[in-house]
Amino acid sequence: MKSKTSALNPQPSTPGAQPTAKGQYEKPPELYDGLRLHQNENTGGCSPRVIEALARLRPDQISFYPPYTAVTNDCAGYFGVSPDSVVLVNGLDEGIMAVSVAYLRTAGSRLVPEAIIPEPAFEIFHFDTAVAGGRVVSVPPKKDFRFAEADVLAAITSETRVVFLTNPNNPTGVPVPFEAIRTIAGAVPKEAVVFVDEAYAEFAGRSFIPELPSFPNVIVGRTFSKAYGLAALRIGALVGAPAVLDPVRYAIPVYSVNIAAAVALQAALADTDYLRDYLRQVKESKQLLYAACDRLGLTYWPSDANFVLVRIGDRIGEVIDGARERGVYLRNRSTEPGCEGCLRIATGLVEHTQRGIDVIEEVLCGAA
Ligand SMILES: Cc1ncc(COP(=O)(O)O)c(C=O)c1O
Repeated sequence: MKSKTSALNPQPSTPGAQPTAKGQYEKPPELYDGLRLHQNENTGGCSPRVIEALARLRPDQISFYPPYTAVTNDCAGYFGVSPDSVVLVNGLDEGIMAVSVAYLRTAGSRLVPEAIIPEPAFEIFHFDTAVAGGRVVSVPPKKDFRFAEADVLAAITSETRVVFLTNPNNPTGVPVPFEAIRTIAGAVPKEAVVFVDEAYAEFAGRSFIPELPSFPNVIVGRTFSKAYGLAALRIGALVGAPAVLDPVRYAIPVYSVNIAAAVALQAALADTDYLRDYLRQVKESKQLLYAACDRLGLTYWPSDANFVLVRIGDRIGEVIDGARERGVYLRNRSTEPGCEGCLRIATGLVEHTQRGIDVIEEVLCGAA
């Protein structure tokens, strides 16, 4: 009997699938009793308007299948596109899985669809490619994490079906130049899509969405887990030309977004002060962290996101463990290509970033 395949336990058992270099998906441990700086969440909590909207939910709204027109319209307005260019998803993770299923499924053909993934990358791209039966074509990182445009172009073949890009990238925070996205979109086979994951676009202050009318083979993925602080409600969106989204719509369960997430998103989008304040704090936090790294002689990569990748070096394990003992969770990214000895730290609320800096400094410098 074949082993069961799921998003949490992907086994590349689909005919034609190749094992990925990454093995099985390891979900981060459930750590909720300290300061969570390891998953790029908004550690300040969501907007109070979201809580009010959830409290206003009526029993009938919960007993009926959810309507999506109003929230889709609001979301389309936020992105500046028409509603038929938006697909709401149960977290961007679901959107990535749906894109993988839509474009990387082998579906009885002998061809093995290929997904190009420039490294280091959001690890889910690997697992979802394997689940769909596709083959990962990894593009190694440049020394300074500059986008490897020429290498991505060289990796394109007649079997390429998805190019996964993240802008700004996770875990580096480094941007992908729009010109590179345009060139890649022009170079892939006609059956392929370029997926631009913009989970952190609010922090960068730019998006490829306005360019979509000229690039009908590009799908942009967005999440409301990060800047809007809705991670536990699970809501994101895919944006693209209706035709490129059609196969993806088929791969998403009809009512995958629940009513709580839908009303929460409408309330969150309406609270522009909340977003403005968080973005301001993220900016200030990054400056604090950069200054600390300069003081401590640590290499870091200036980030367009709400986190920063920092090279600790040989003492990485000590810093991660020492921070955890002090109640602060940091993400060890050492096993990612090009990230040896590196941790990733969320730089959101200033007081939380300061606490993260303090514990790193305490562990490295031995202060109490
Ligand atoms: C690049 C990237 N894409 C997608 C996601 C997942 O977003 P969501 O919480 O909406 O599933 C994350 C979350 O960490 C991410 O970093």
